[in-house]
Amino acid sequence: MGSHLIKSPNTRIWPHSATINKLDHLEIAGLDVCDLAKKYGTPLWLMDYASIFQANEACKRGLEHYPGEKTILYAGKAFLCLAMCKIINQLDMGLDVVSLGEFKTALQANVKTQNIFLHGNNKSLKELELAIELEQCKIVVDNMSELTLALSISKSKQKKARILLRIKPGIEPDTHDHIKTGQETSKFGIGLNEINEYLSFINANDENLDFLGFHAHIGSQALELDVFEDSIKVLGDLSLKTQSVHGLKTRLLDVGGGLGITYIEQDKPPGLYEWSLTIARSVQETYQKLGLDLPHLMIEPGRSIVGTAGVTIYEVGHVKRLANNSLCLAVDGGMADNPRPSTYDAKYTAKIANAMSSESAEKVSIVGKYCESGDIIVKDAGIEAGTGDLIAVFGTGAYNYSMSSNYNRTGRPACLLLKDGQADLILERETIDDLIRQDRVPAWLARER
Ligand SMILES: Cc1ncc(COP(=O)(O)O)c(C=O)c1O
Repeated sequence: MGSHLIKSPNTRIWPHSATINKLDHLEIAGLDVCDLAKKYGTPLWLMDYASIFQANEACKRGLEHYPGEKTILYAGKAFLCLAMCKIINQLDMGLDVVSLGEFKTALQANVKTQNIFLHGNNKSLKELELAIELEQCKIVVDNMSELTLALSISKSKQKKARILLRIKPGIEPDTHDHIKTGQETSKFGIGLNEINEYLSFINANDENLDFLGFHAHIGSQALELDVFEDSIKVLGDLSLKTQSVHGLKTRLLDVGGGLGITYIEQDKPPGLYEWSLTIARSVQETYQKLGLDLPHLMIEPGRSIVGTAGVTIYEVGHVKRLANNSLCLAVDGGMADNPRPSTYDAKYTAKIANAMSSESAEKVSIVGKYCESGDIIVKDAGIEAGTGDLIAVFGTGAYNYSMSSNYNRTGRPACLLLKDGQADLILERETIDDLIRQDRVPAWLARER
């Protein structure tokens, strides 16, 4: 397939199967989102299956140019639930998990253990025990005390831990400080100057530690490709040194995720095809030039797989004009279902789902209902809506549900998976009863009136 025919959802603001119907309503996968809002309530998370499928397809096409083995690992932290795991299985992807919760969700959905990679900078005893117990599962080691713990678990279980070392390549994408991870001061991973100690330790304990290779993840929402090439060069040099000094081959190379998506018109990320092709070529060239065997190549995208698939639907409640004459639309959700704007000033695009062609030159902000001044979903929305209108915020598929909270004691929205005219509930709406059910009152307080 020619690259011009490959659709990379991350280069669009709208989901792959989004259109406007004759009522001027937003439609996704052939479904009028206003009907969905009426049936399931708001706020409502919608996930477009076709966007996820196309994103995976674009990565697959790019990686086809790599002559060695290759796998797409989906970074579960972006959005994970049982249905998402089933999509991962169906699309033959691997999975990066960072918590017991993600790990057990994956196991319950029958994600193959050989496809699971356990990440994280503070893996618990339980997480490491489970990974080692399952044998085929890989552990991406972050620090020495974790490696020491993995060794002692492997010895006591008489099993081998399959490990990759997460390194800090010293490369920084141009993104928000909170989502940079490749720099030397990052809390994640091992500095290049420390790596010899780890490799000697592994060699001295090779009965229980099976060294597979390296991992690096430089950050998130990267909008340029050269940082990935730079990181691969560092990994290549490291693989060469590791082989010549320690006799350990890099059989597996996980170059991380981090490709950005189009939240607003000004974002111009490379497409997933271009990104994965660049990685494929860069790893091939780097390793061949260094005279190394080609490793099994893994990429680990999260945001760029599910981000554009997601749309959040809110209903406008009260409308207020502020002292600076700007209009403020308050919606029935906000930072509890999408903490990204208040956490790292993330930008979004919004439309009126029941009047898609309407636009306004007015200064309009869409604010959440939570008790923080920073709870603003979109600052300059360019729309003018009124009470009862439905607002669609695009690009909310990644790091919304997974970072959501019960702030102000609010239940999380429901989530629907939309595919070919069918809407399936994949996350039930959390009710107030769900929250209260977790509460316990000490006996001495229960007696109080
Ligand atoms: C180790 C690792 N891999 C992959 C990802 C996915 O990144 P993104 O969602 O930007 O593709 C992350 C994100 O934090 C990560 O920490």
